[in-house]
Amino acid sequence: MKKAKLSLDGQDYEFPVLVGSEDEVGIDFTTLRNTTGAIGLDPGYGNTGSCTSTITFIDGEKGILQYRGYPIEEIAASASFAEVCYLLVYGHLPTVDELRDFSDKLTHHSMIHEAMKDFFQGFPPTAHPMMVLSAMVASLSAYYTRGAVDEDVDLNIIRLLAKVKTIAAFSYKRSIGQPFVYPRNDLSFTEDFLHMMFAVPSEPYVVPDVMDRALNLLLILHADHEQNCSTSTVRMVGSSLSNLFASISSGISALWGPLHGGANQKVIEMLEQIRADGGDYQKYVDMAKDPESDFRLMGFGHRVYKNFDPRATILKEAAADVLAELGTTDPLLEIAKNLERIALEDPFFVERKLYPNVDFYSGILYRAMGIPTEMFTVMFALGRLPGWIAQWKEGRDDPKAKISRPRQIYLGATKRPFVPLEERVVKESATVKEPELVPA
Ligand code: CMC
Repeated sequence: MKKAKLSLDGQDYEFPVLVGSEDEVGIDFTTLRNTTGAIGLDPGYGNTGSCTSTITFIDGEKGILQYRGYPIEEIAASASFAEVCYLLVYGHLPTVDELRDFSDKLTHHSMIHEAMKDFFQGFPPTAHPMMVLSAMVASLSAYYTRGAVDEDVDLNIIRLLAKVKTIAAFSYKRSIGQPFVYPRNDLSFTEDFLHMMFAVPSEPYVVPDVMDRALNLLLILHADHEQNCSTSTVRMVGSSLSNLFASISSGISALWGPLHGGANQKVIEMLEQIRADGGDYQKYVDMAKDPESDFRLMGFGHRVYKNFDPRATILKEAAADVLAELGTTDPLLEIAKNLERIALEDPFFVERKLYPNVDFYSGILYRAMGIPTEMFTVMFALGRLPGWIAQWKEGRDDPKAKISRPRQIYLGATKRPFVPLEERVVKESATVKEPELVPA
């Protein structure tokens, strides 16, 4: 086995080196503190492996993404989202019978408890749907309390996958003041979601095939992405043995942030702003480069991808195809393409290896499907569910797993005596300055 050497205060220490199945190298520092007394300091965890995993492989330099060994391009070309859920959660592609049984269960667990419908009324209609989703998913643990043995866990996994699509569609209906449309058992996962989103009681609704395919693609591309911010959150919360629903609810909250899944909403808002500004791309590129400005090109850059994000490549092409098939155009697609071109010619972006990420083109597709901007991150969450679940389950089933508990380097005040309030008051009054006399 390979070893890594570390020298500290004149003493040498050796640590085992773990090589992954795709030749990634990790130095196992599990014993670092016990042997050296020091800890590893890595804010943002850019160099820290928090676990070993068999779910997803990413090579950010080469733009490779694989779920359980299968390349994302091949999965995206021909799998169904239900198949991908099965693959991620159970580790292998389902047989025909396994898929039929799994899809059947996903369908038959789609209804939410009738009492939960009232929860929606408790939120203001303007509430962000990510807030509603996070609260509703946490609430599921009030209804499905058992989850200790594997059988219960498996059932809760199905319930979660099935019910989140209903919760997501209901939160949209609530936001526009329309009656809820109940799930239908004769529809596939993706068709059912679109039906609950867009059907109205007064007229029949047939899910357009192009929308069904676009949604299937979008969900698959978001399905897992190894130890990103929300997934790490799910694993961390799960490491304290919190239940599945509570852990996923935390992941939803983490995803909501604009540097993570919330970027898809911000991209469209940015493109709309550029359009309103008469298409002045350079102004936005310059703002993103200005160290004095907080502005970033949303949908650009990635912690792991330093060449291209394969999901963005697939989505850029799909956005153009779907718009053509729907017979519509979207001025924001042209703005996005131009912005990408201008940014990628700019040394600032080239040197920092900043490329469009998954969020850059996904919003154009959601818009074409009639999904409102505020729902974009909910769509991301719906797609990411199987990944979160698989990662939560992997952590739970790992006999070596421990509660997540990072350490820190303390830079605050050293030990000093506490000063009681009375003494502080006396001190403060002694230091109060007399008001200055203002000459008349
Ligand atoms: N626009 C302008 N400059 C950027 C951008 C951007 N979008 N992203 C990174 N930079 C610059 C950054 O200012 C820094 O420059 P310098 O070295 O001069 O200080 C350098 O590039 C490195 O950036 P970083 O913030 O250290 O990189 P990170 O790995 O910590 O952050 C990121 C990754 C995705 C948070 C960041 O690129 C970003 O804020 N992008 C915009 C938000 C976004 O699109 N998020 C979605 C990510 S993909 C979907 C998901 O999985 O969440």
